[in-house]
Amino acid sequence: MAVNLLLGLQWGDEGKGKIVDVLTKDYNIIARFQGGPNAGHTLEFDGIKHVLHTIPSGIFHDKAINLVGNGVVIDPVIFKKELDNLDKFNLDYKSKLLISRKAHLILPTHRILDAASEASKGKAKIGSTLKGIGPTYMDKTGRNGIRIGDLELSDWKERYRALANKHEAMIDFYDSKIEYDLVELENEFFEAVKVLKTLTFIDSEEYLHQAQKEGKTILAEGAQGSLLDIDFGTYPFVTSSNTTAAGACTGLGIAPNKIKDVFGIFKAYTTRVGSGPFPTELFDEDGETMAQVGHEFGATTGRPRRCGWLDLVALKYAVHVNGVTKLMMMKGDVLSGFNTLKICTAYKYQGKTITHLPYNIEPENVTPIYTKMKGWSEDLTGMNDPSQLPKELNEYISFLEKELETPITIVSVGPDRTQTIHR
Ligand code: IMP
Repeated sequence: MAVNLLLGLQWGDEGKGKIVDVLTKDYNIIARFQGGPNAGHTLEFDGIKHVLHTIPSGIFHDKAINLVGNGVVIDPVIFKKELDNLDKFNLDYKSKLLISRKAHLILPTHRILDAASEASKGKAKIGSTLKGIGPTYMDKTGRNGIRIGDLELSDWKERYRALANKHEAMIDFYDSKIEYDLVELENEFFEAVKVLKTLTFIDSEEYLHQAQKEGKTILAEGAQGSLLDIDFGTYPFVTSSNTTAAGACTGLGIAPNKIKDVFGIFKAYTTRVGSGPFPTELFDEDGETMAQVGHEFGATTGRPRRCGWLDLVALKYAVHVNGVTKLMMMKGDVLSGFNTLKICTAYKYQGKTITHLPYNIEPENVTPIYTKMKGWSEDLTGMNDPSQLPKELNEYISFLEKELETPITIVSVGPDRTQTIHR
């Protein structure tokens, strides 16, 4: 049985959580493959908004198993908070939430190191969510990390101490004057680890292998977006994992030839939170309208998101890198009311017009070239059938499908599960 992937094509916050939630009824297993609590996946149904950071977005459905894969980094403290929230809704997660033994742990000192490293960068800071993501993946690739499976071993606390001591020396090196109470942070951490240990830890690659043999349907859920990928994103303003399709293979142990559909999620415009290049960024009223109507504030940090027109050059790149087979366009409703819509179809780069994403897309190198399209004024939020979509929106969609050579199969017109149009 094939595995389908779902991932973001821009700089994150595309609305992956909502779509995973919408699609979960068709799957036996939802498996998160990378990132950590830097993600904030927002789901809305029955008038309630839920934000998940590490737990896969299929958790609110009765049947699906939700797996946190080996490629994910887990902060027990934040994980516990997520579980506390599920408890509030009397959700029986224990029977349907599994964690890979090979997933790495975020320690309190990883978070402090993240803050110290960012502080040391001054103006060049990445705008990290400061959840300890970079330092944890550094320890993973540096072969120093502590994994979920280690929590089952008797000596894990000694290994913890050795690593935390090393981190403290590194924090001193930064001389960042960051104040922290490690004893308090560790108390909170060890309490949360106790809760984490009540969950089921598994050899997830073997579990997924067996599941495939039994014909189970699997949806791999990505976090962040393709332009934040450690290899293919706008380095160094990226996250520390592979957010692109290949990350699902390494982050779950799924063979590339088992992947069927790759669902690429994108917003009808573009947003970015944190620093880094963003060629179509708007600093005018149009950008403000997008931010206000689209409630563009980070689900994890609450930071305002930068907004701009759709960047087709970057989107095409993401479609290619991921092998996207089906596109899903989010927040179409936010563009209602613009007389004219702009889509960036090329860049002016070093005196030439180019249609691919160059190595360096700093604002001083790149000027976006726009195609203008007529906007629509209809409110889309109550629509539920493709026949209701305004003519101009259909033209916008057709233009994108032609340029991206990929069908748009879902148009989302609001945050609720029900505000989803299947085409
Ligand atoms: P980090 O992964 O928290 O270190 O953040 C690195 C960069 O990725 C920063 O610019 C963050 O704002 C951005 N980032 C990380 N996670 C997300 C996300 O889930 N959505 C959007 N941006 C993110």
